[in-house]
Amino acid sequence: MSLPGFRPNSSGGDAGGYRIAVFGAGYIGLVTGACFAKLGHQVVIRDIQEERIDTLRSGGVPIHEEGLAELIAENADRLTFTLDAAEAVRGAHVVYVCVDTPSTAAGDADLSRIWQVIDSLRGADQLAAVVVKSTVPVGTGEQVRAALDRAGLQHVGYASNPEFTAEGRAVHDFLHPDRVVIGSADPETAKLVTLLHEGVEGPEIVMDVASAEMVKLAANALLAAKISFTNEIATVCETNGADVEQVVRAVGLDHRLGPHFMKAGVGWGGSCFPKDSRALQAMANNGGYAFQMLRAVVDVNDLQPRRAIQRLKDELGGAFHDLTVAVLGIAFKAGTDDVREAPSTIIASRLVAEGATVRCWDPLARPLKTAPWLSATRCASPVEAMTGADAAIIVTEWPELLEVDWAGAASAMARPLLFDGRNLLDPEQMGSLGFTYMSVGRTTVRASR
Ligand code: UGA
Repeated sequence: MSLPGFRPNSSGGDAGGYRIAVFGAGYIGLVTGACFAKLGHQVVIRDIQEERIDTLRSGGVPIHEEGLAELIAENADRLTFTLDAAEAVRGAHVVYVCVDTPSTAAGDADLSRIWQVIDSLRGADQLAAVVVKSTVPVGTGEQVRAALDRAGLQHVGYASNPEFTAEGRAVHDFLHPDRVVIGSADPETAKLVTLLHEGVEGPEIVMDVASAEMVKLAANALLAAKISFTNEIATVCETNGADVEQVVRAVGLDHRLGPHFMKAGVGWGGSCFPKDSRALQAMANNGGYAFQMLRAVVDVNDLQPRRAIQRLKDELGGAFHDLTVAVLGIAFKAGTDDVREAPSTIIASRLVAEGATVRCWDPLARPLKTAPWLSATRCASPVEAMTGADAAIIVTEWPELLEVDWAGAASAMARPLLFDGRNLLDPEQMGSLGFTYMSVGRTTVRASR
């Protein structure tokens, strides 16, 4: 592998940056491509979905991600979009693989899209490196290396560069990361990936490929574990009169533990934690080892939205039949339109299965494929969703919910019963506004007026 003989230049133009082909125009690929363009590189983003590429070519952005549309517009002269793999690879120094790796029926990561990218690289003689950013099982890099060798691309370097960006703040996380992890067997490729990140503010850690792949899975598993642990503490608080919010505030001040990812709620979802914990479990199982702690982390999370529904049902006298429930929030977290594996899916589906009528509200969420009927009941505002309802449940911590006229909502509801699945509101205040207010890991407050 020979490094291209010029350095990135954030002023752009012919002399500026490396030529990077990003495969995948999803949440990761678009952010990666747009950020590399901002750093001065020439970027072509390739996807197989025609609609997506058409949208991007006509100046639109197919996903909601804070600051992404602006970044793409500002760096339009260094960004192109294509459906054609050969066109993307032509002249590229580096291929960044950002395709999705969804769960198979067996829980393993489905790597078929990665192999399609690798297969399309045949004859890419000018290529200096292939970098995988997609989350993959440990050992994938070794297999990709072997596939490149078989394709006559022995001169092309290989690196793993896992992403740690969170949706909703991915642009910020890319440009100001806690760390950039680079796994590579050859120092030249590691150096090239370091050069690509010139201008990014954060420490770089270079290691072997397998360890880099493992860092990503271990980090997500530990973050998920922190939340599930907090949710279990919350359950114990509920039955013993303690307040999980106060407990967590004090526990998190211990610098060894930290305050992050200790927000109790109806569980974690999204495109990463559920898929990655399944993939890590499957990977351990495939090697003959049962990852017991991780299994518990997942089990606790599966239970969390179901417990919320059961508690609400008990409060309503044991049945949802003929009742109307407002579901406030569909996206898996605030700040995103992403609904993949969102707790709202389980919550809304359970309610419907029990015979309730569901009315929902969310400011951004895409239509939920797993519960398409939800779109039909979507309301323009939280108060509209709650009007005439027998209960409401907050599923996503949208800041808009802090601005709701809750006194007005209490009067508009048939029964002012609110389950706050994200501990967003103040229990005493909600009680004083006339609500029976239930939340996670805190004592239920009954209306005081
Ligand atoms: C997560 C990681 O935070 C990123 O570092 C990682 O790069 C990304 O997965 C990935 O693998 O691509 P993300 O899924 O976008 O990012 O969202 P998070 O902010 O981590 O939230 C995940 C879920 O946990 C959400 O459902 C959120 O509501 C829930 N959560 C989070 C809690 O219930 N409590 C908390 O204290 C924090």
